[in-house]
Amino acid sequence: MRTLFASVLSVICIASVNYGYTQTAAADAPYRNPKLSADARAEDLLKRMTLEEKATMLSGSSWMESAPIERLGIPPIHMADGPLGVRSWMGSSAITNSANNPVNIESTSFPSGIAMAAAWNPALVEREGKAIAEEVKALGRDMILGPTVNINRQPLWGRNFEGYGEDPYLASRLGVAYIRGVQGEGVIPSVKHFDANNEEFERHRINAVIDERALHEIYLPAFKAAVQEAGVWTVMSAYNKLNGTYCAENDELLNKILKHEFGFKGFVISDWGSTYSTAPTVNAGMDLEMPGGAPLKAMLARPQTILSGNNGGWLEAGKVIAEVKAGHITETTLDDNVRRILRVIFLSGIFDHPHASGGLVDTPEQRAVALQGATEGIVLLKNERRLLPIEAARVRSIAVIGPNAAVARTGGGGSSLVRPKQATSPLDGIRSRAAKDQIAVSYALGVGMEGEDPVQDSPEAREKARDEAIAAASKADVAVVIVGRYFKNESEGFDVKTMYLPTGQDALIEAVEKVNPHTVVVLNTGDPVTMAAWLDATPALLDMWYGGQEGGAALASILFGDANPSGKLPVTLPKRFEDSPAAANYPGRDLTVHYAEGIYVGYRYFDTKNIEPAFPFGFGESYTTFAYSGLKVTPHVSGNQPVEVSLQVRNSGARAGAEVVEVYVHDDHAKIDRPVHELKDFARVELKPGESKTIALMLDRAAFSYWNPTTKAWQADPGTFEVQVGASSRDIRLRAHVVLEQ
Ligand code: GLC
Repeated sequence: MRTLFASVLSVICIASVNYGYTQTAAADAPYRNPKLSADARAEDLLKRMTLEEKATMLSGSSWMESAPIERLGIPPIHMADGPLGVRSWMGSSAITNSANNPVNIESTSFPSGIAMAAAWNPALVEREGKAIAEEVKALGRDMILGPTVNINRQPLWGRNFEGYGEDPYLASRLGVAYIRGVQGEGVIPSVKHFDANNEEFERHRINAVIDERALHEIYLPAFKAAVQEAGVWTVMSAYNKLNGTYCAENDELLNKILKHEFGFKGFVISDWGSTYSTAPTVNAGMDLEMPGGAPLKAMLARPQTILSGNNGGWLEAGKVIAEVKAGHITETTLDDNVRRILRVIFLSGIFDHPHASGGLVDTPEQRAVALQGATEGIVLLKNERRLLPIEAARVRSIAVIGPNAAVARTGGGGSSLVRPKQATSPLDGIRSRAAKDQIAVSYALGVGMEGEDPVQDSPEAREKARDEAIAAASKADVAVVIVGRYFKNESEGFDVKTMYLPTGQDALIEAVEKVNPHTVVVLNTGDPVTMAAWLDATPALLDMWYGGQEGGAALASILFGDANPSGKLPVTLPKRFEDSPAAANYPGRDLTVHYAEGIYVGYRYFDTKNIEPAFPFGFGESYTTFAYSGLKVTPHVSGNQPVEVSLQVRNSGARAGAEVVEVYVHDDHAKIDRPVHELKDFARVELKPGESKTIALMLDRAAFSYWNPTTKAWQADPGTFEVQVGASSRDIRLRAHVVLEQ
């Protein structure tokens, strides 16, 4: 009997050694000590993990969660989309309540990234990151999958609305701000999509071919700043290939550039269903595959999934262990990938303080941030004859017209689309504001939204809708026509078909302007649009982008002058798609898109090649005017010390307002071709009527440098540079020179 018992006991022991069922770690183990550093805790914990447990960490355990290791008390990371607020997923939420039942969460729908970029207000973006992080915690989650910092390379990308526009410096400032706001709350951000996700066309298979300079000067800076200035905890690798290799298994991109050159210490998370191998992915430095294999297979089994045919699960424990045993993945590599995940779990605080659901979302403070962003992001593009702001003394009736008037088009489609508790449509916003001055408001659809509204279906219905709009416009003192797109024709997963507005909207604008010379056109979309048909005849034009749930209220406050427009274009608005530097190579052929324009993206192209846009990068008008004077650049000759750029800005008009002052650098002596100028700093300043303020900005050596593809280093060639200070890239008000020495 004893022998039998002994042998059973020994089997259990062997089993426990083989399969790692070692003792649960002692309660006083160093990794459980919050006084120790994240690195020390991760190191101690890593040593206690079995091969099986380490391998389990590399792949998600559900659609929006990483894998927990109960034995050691390692929690799952509870994730949520998306950069513009906390979103439920695919109709039912991957966000579950304490009873683990899917719930349809509603939270604050913040303005689109492009709208926040148009505000040029990093401090506000940091407050937005903080507000979103508060909602993440309130919903019991730990991670927000944002910010999106991909460059607007071409006008048709379905997700341009999510990002911060065409300039790497602006995108860097705002990405850093967002990350600081989120991480300050102990919530994990994920700067995305690394890298060169600049079109949705074939996003799971397209190969972006980009030269060294364009990569380092245009597409990497926002990620580099996220790592080196904000210490970002995670980076999301993109679906596409970069120079021939999928980003999720791109050793050059993830190990060499991100981890070694930039010094990234966090973990790389894959975009959902974007892994295509086991050892190459792990060895390239892709640390956490999302979602895991099982959740992805379940998703692919659902109809209309937006993912590729890739069945994922490449980093499931079994596959990883097999590759380790085969010697294709070393334990050292596996340890590094796992260590990074553990480090973030400790750094964020979720190991010691798990986030419990049940907190408040959509609080007045959070809505105030969303409203401020939507308001400051509105760009006044035209205002002839001072048609705006609408003043009760002059205007007693307003006709609000268009497919985006009565519906709050809060954002584009896909993973960033948030379901708000409430949202104000432009019509609602205008109605409630007009009521304060007893101004009558009428409404007419004018034309249905392409693909959405049955009005499109019959010529009679279309005629009737048009006639109603013309009738309303002809009777009103002012007509406001709100056009644009929405989440079903501007979205993740596909690009916008054309730069032209959806069917019938150009004709609607023309018809309204024929009967009412006091017509305001409002663009409600994240992408540039072709305006040739009606722009010259339009006295007033605003771009409100997608303003989130408060977009309608923000538009009303600008139209009535309660707020003075201060937005500036974060993207060039071309006259036509063909003028875009990327047009000739879009969307690519044979699953390859050549970034043949290289560093000449956006205004870098338009201003260097002297191509007239409809509206230039950095442009935006105000209800007041600003005077720039007294530019000083000191020292005039600089060795390696930073250069101070100072000037005075005065509000030379009659109402308070905010001005964004833009600083560009021009280098006409470089040993290598360079754009005619590049944005290297900016400042947003609030000024009362007549008030003047001094702005002082610092330009370090990097502000004068370009990437030398031969030496693979940043370089500023000694010589004279011109510092240009302007109200837009094409409205340079002051210039001064500085000499850089060796
Ligand atoms: C999507 C998006 C990414 C998002 C993720 C999770 O495909 O590309 O931005 O965070 O999958 O929904």
